[in-house]
Amino acid sequence: MNENLKIAVVGATGVVGREVLAALYARDVPAEQVRAFGSERSKGLEVEYGEDSLEVERAVPEAFKGMGLVLLATPAEASRTLAPAAQAAGAWVVDVSSAFRSDGNVPLVLPGFNTELLGATMKGRLVCLPSAVTTASVHVMEPLRRAFGVVRAQVTAMMSVSSAGVRGVAELEKQTADLMSGREPDPSAFPHRVGFNLVPQVGGFMVGSPWTEEEGGWTLEAARLFATWGDAPVLAGTAVQVPSFYGHGLTLNVQLKKAGPVEQVRAALKTSPALKVLDTPGERIYPMPMLVTSDPTVHVGRVRAFPQAPEWVTLFAAVDNATRGAALNLVEAGLKLAERPV
Ligand SMILES: NC(=O)c1ccc[n+]([C@@H]2O[C@H](COP(=O)([O-])OP(=O)(O)OC[C@H]3O[C@@H](n4cnc5c(N)ncnc54)[C@H](OP(=O)(O)O)[C@@H]3O)[C@@H](O)[C@H]2O)c1
Repeated sequence: MNENLKIAVVGATGVVGREVLAALYARDVPAEQVRAFGSERSKGLEVEYGEDSLEVERAVPEAFKGMGLVLLATPAEASRTLAPAAQAAGAWVVDVSSAFRSDGNVPLVLPGFNTELLGATMKGRLVCLPSAVTTASVHVMEPLRRAFGVVRAQVTAMMSVSSAGVRGVAELEKQTADLMSGREPDPSAFPHRVGFNLVPQVGGFMVGSPWTEEEGGWTLEAARLFATWGDAPVLAGTAVQVPSFYGHGLTLNVQLKKAGPVEQVRAALKTSPALKVLDTPGERIYPMPMLVTSDPTVHVGRVRAFPQAPEWVTLFAAVDNATRGAALNLVEAGLKLAERPV
């Protein structure tokens, strides 16, 4: 990595931003090359950078002067203002929010899937990333698409509360304590109590639509990612907020173009470096969110098909939403982008 590269991590106090700092530190990026930013609320706080700490600065447009790379781990609203400011300051920018995912002028990049876009001609200096559920689903679908062709995948994503950031984590902690003490919690980060419950709504509903923005995002992002192929597979499904803190679990029903024996499906999954196949059910070995913490791979297993419809394959996957689903995508895409000539 260029030792003159200055990297801004914006949203450094958040669930994703903290993992971005950990990933940069793990890649031996010296603290002198990294600056941490947040909103006015966190100005002056210290965030961990390995054994060092960084003081959080307020993200204002002037602050990006001299930065070569700006990694935005901020809510969409903030990214919409900060991304243009960072580009105007001459930085390469990667955004992990939903702000630009439907903007055809902003490349949607999933490292390990269409990494080559990071070296291609682009209109601005900005790329965006898919959501954690799209990341996991596309990594599972891709080796199956290559081996058998995929018509569609239907996913039920069991999403931990850290998908709603530090506020979501704090709310489940408080709700659990309230419920254990016989008090009825008062939900604010979620539409209903999530403690000891399951809520089939993550985020708001799209205007005039029965689909939530989260669910609609998966379909749109997968369509963009698979667009290179004329008959791109469709991804659609249901987002469920579950009372766990970190890591998402996904049930995927994948319709193959050409049915293949389960052993061949498993063998195809094993060819992908983005996946770890855990599938020895007799020994109770299968993916679980508790096993994926900080794992850069998506775990997949419970591979099944039934004779009456052999083209449908059912699987279970788990992904660390904060790291593989967000922070690692930011860091891998950002460091690659920063290698481009100015
Ligand atoms: N969590 C996940 O699993 C996940 C997965 C994929 C993508 N994402 C996306 O990643 C982004 C961050 O999510 P998160 O879960 O890390 O949220 P979070 O825990 O709520 O953190 C949000 C961060 O953004 C900062 N921020 C908010 N408004 C800002 C502003 N106007 N200017 C500068 N900084 C601002 C916050 O700083 P303060 O401390 O100052 O408020 C905080 O550091 C979101 O767009 C989310 O959709 C999240």
